[in-house]
Amino acid sequence: MTYKKVKEGEATILAPKEEKISGDLPVFYNPIMKTNRDISIALLNALEKEDLDIALPLAGTGIRAIRFFKELKRDNIKQICINDCNEEAIKVINENFKLNSIAEEDIEINQTEASLFMLKHAGFNYIDVDPFGSPNPFLDASCKKLSRDGILAVTATDTAPLSGTYTKVCRRKYWAEPKKDHMMHETGLRILIRKIQLIAVQYERALTPIYSYSDEHYMRVFFRCKKGKKHCDEILSQHKMFNDAGPLWLGPLWDEDLAEKIMNLNPCTLTKLIKDESKIHSIGFYNIPKICKKHKIGVEKKFDQIMELIKAKGYQASRTHFDKEGIRTNMPEEELEKVVIG
Ligand SMILES: C[S@@+](CC[C@H](N)C(=O)[O-])C[C@H]1O[C@@H](n2cnc3c(N)ncnc32)[C@H](O)[C@@H]1O
Repeated sequence: MTYKKVKEGEATILAPKEEKISGDLPVFYNPIMKTNRDISIALLNALEKEDLDIALPLAGTGIRAIRFFKELKRDNIKQICINDCNEEAIKVINENFKLNSIAEEDIEINQTEASLFMLKHAGFNYIDVDPFGSPNPFLDASCKKLSRDGILAVTATDTAPLSGTYTKVCRRKYWAEPKKDHMMHETGLRILIRKIQLIAVQYERALTPIYSYSDEHYMRVFFRCKKGKKHCDEILSQHKMFNDAGPLWLGPLWDEDLAEKIMNLNPCTLTKLIKDESKIHSIGFYNIPKICKKHKIGVEKKFDQIMELIKAKGYQASRTHFDKEGIRTNMPEEELEKVVIG
């Protein structure tokens, strides 16, 4: 395998020279996932969490670990434990640490199966599950090993079942009914959240989403963990059907203050949209062209104008990162339709 040097954030790493990004490559680096890593860094910096005991069970080139060392407050990191089952990945991770002059003492590098790696350790207060496809194989061990007040970050790239293209796969893997409509990405994200919460409550861990989104080809959720039966029961009470889909998580997708801090630390279109929509405590959003089509009219009003009209009537309104043509609002549907077509 041949490598080239790549710069991402404050790290320079060796990444495969192949132009085509594929899970079949012995060592995997996807530049599109820079946003995923940027947001993880912004979130940990925003939380100002001390004594970070970090697990990266599916580490790839080690880019995330290196960026954590360089872009988080160094004093806040107690340890980073890195793992990948692939021998070539481990070689590259070692090379990349040397290339970035990171000393060995605060790193542990393992080459084993990701769940076995987590189960061998006492516990972590940040676990980042970033696999190819579904996170399912790694949820049990990560939930078991997440400490009180710890943060669990999960990526899922199998968005087709979650968003309703493969209903049967979604039923089998995520124990819920998806729905392929304009809200499919929010629905899929809420189905994914519930599935992870169901795994965690078995071990008396209550996982509350603090930041979540859907972008490119993947979904991503960060949870904060509380321990105890009462907290678990509170989580379960927020699993219901919505819009004929689910059961899914009906609670908030974001902590409002955190969304604001992440936007300030990493301002981009995605974090700005999320900051705005995190202030509106609604489930789902409206697709404006769909409303116009229902009333057999063209999209005549500009989105900004529609949002101003909603706000003038005392409701909240924002664009949503889930859909370029969507508006999130707490205005009732019938009233919104009047605003759009009026
Ligand atoms: C999507 S890549 C990880 C990308 C990395 N987290 C990043 O930010 O660039 C998934 C990695 O998991 C590794 N992997 C896949 N299945 C595994 C398993 N069961 N145990 C350990 N590693 C595994 C692969 O070798 C690959 O390097």
